[in-house]
Amino acid sequence: MHKSIAIIRGDCIGPEIMEQAIAVLDRVAERFGHGFEYMDAPMGGEAIDKFGDPLPSSTLDTCLTADSVLLSAVGGPKWDDVPKDRRPERGLLRLRSGMGLYSNIRPAKIFDELRDASPLRPEIAERGIDFVVVRELIGGAYFGEHKTERKNGEDYASDIMAYSEHEIRRIAHVAFQTARKRRKKLCSVDKANVLDSSKLWRRVVTEVGREYPDVTLSHMYVDNCAMQIVKDPSQFDVIVTENLFGDILSDEASMITGSIGMIPSSGLGDGTRGLYEPIHGSAPDIAGQNTANPTGLILAAAMMLRYSFDMAAEADAVENAVSAVLRDGFRTADTMSAGKTRLGCREMGKAICDRI
Ligand code: IPM
Ligand code: MG
Repeated sequence: MHKSIAIIRGDCIGPEIMEQAIAVLDRVAERFGHGFEYMDAPMGGEAIDKFGDPLPSSTLDTCLTADSVLLSAVGGPKWDDVPKDRRPERGLLRLRSGMGLYSNIRPAKIFDELRDASPLRPEIAERGIDFVVVRELIGGAYFGEHKTERKNGEDYASDIMAYSEHEIRRIAHVAFQTARKRRKKLCSVDKANVLDSSKLWRRVVTEVGREYPDVTLSHMYVDNCAMQIVKDPSQFDVIVTENLFGDILSDEASMITGSIGMIPSSGLGDGTRGLYEPIHGSAPDIAGQNTANPTGLILAAAMMLRYSFDMAAEADAVENAVSAVLRDGFRTADTMSAGKTRLGCREMGKAICDRI
C-alpha cells in the first residue's frame, strides 16, 4: 500500500523524536512492502518563525490532503510572549478543528515492565491499569467565545463552555463503539450537578446508550472521577468526557502509568484521516540532548497504522517491538531504574527498529 503522511516535526524535542518515528515507519514499510511518503507540514513555533503564523494555510492544506498526520509536540519558551492568537497551541487547536477531529482517544495502560514507575502504591497498580479516555476535542470551553474586557473599573474575562446535542451524540457513539471492542464498560464524566452543558451531556449520552444495550453505562462527576483514577483505576474501561475535563483527566491517567513519555493519542473525525501525537509536551529542558523518549510518538505512529491505514499486523509489530525493548532491559532517562540499560533517543529508536 502507498500512503502519504503529513509530518509535523514540531519544536524543542519534536524533530529528534520525529526522526526516530520516521525510521520506525521506514522499517515497517520495508518489512511489509508498503510505501510511505512524508510531507513536511510546519506548525507551531517552527511555523511562527518561518511564516508568522502557527498554522499556515499551506500546512492545513497538506494535512487535509495527506492520508494521515503525525505530530510530535509544539511550543516552547521562545514563543511564550507572542500574542495569544499566534501562540503555538493556537495552531494545534485550529488544526484539530480544521480537520474536524472531534474524538481524541488517549489510552492509559501500564506496561508490566514499568510497573515500578507508577506513583501509585503497588497494591493499587497491581490491580491493573488499562482504560482509555475518549475526549471530545473540538467543542466546549476551548472553542467557545473567549473575552477579556474592562467592566466596572477592573478587568473581566470569560470563556463560554457550550455543547450542542449533535456534538455530544457523535462523540458518545465513538465511546460506545470503543467500549464494545473492549470490556463493554463506559463511564461518562460530567459536572451535571452544576453545569447546564453537563446536564445536556448526560441526557444525550444516556439516549445514545439505548442503542448499545450490550455496554454498561455509568455516570460520574468529574471531581469524583479525578479521585477514583488514583484510588482504584482498575474500575475503568472507557471514560468519555468533554474537552476540558478530558484534558485534565488524561494527564492524570497517563501519570499513574508512570510513563507519560510512552503514551500515544489519536484524533479522528468522520473519516479515516487522523492526527496522531504523543500526549507529552515539547520538553524544552532536554531538547537537543539525545535524551528524549521517542516511544510515545512511535506508539502514536502504530496507532495511525492501525486506525487510519487498517494495518493491524504492522501496528502489532511496532507495539511488540516496544515491549521487547523494555523486556530486554532498555530504558530512556524518563523511565530509567536500577539494573536497566539507559539509551539515548536515537539508540532507543534503533533498538525498536531492530525488533521489527
Ligand atoms: C493536550 C494539550 C493541549 C490541549 C494544549 C497544548 C493546547 O494539553 O493535547 O492535552 O489542551 O488540548
Ligand atoms: Mg493536555
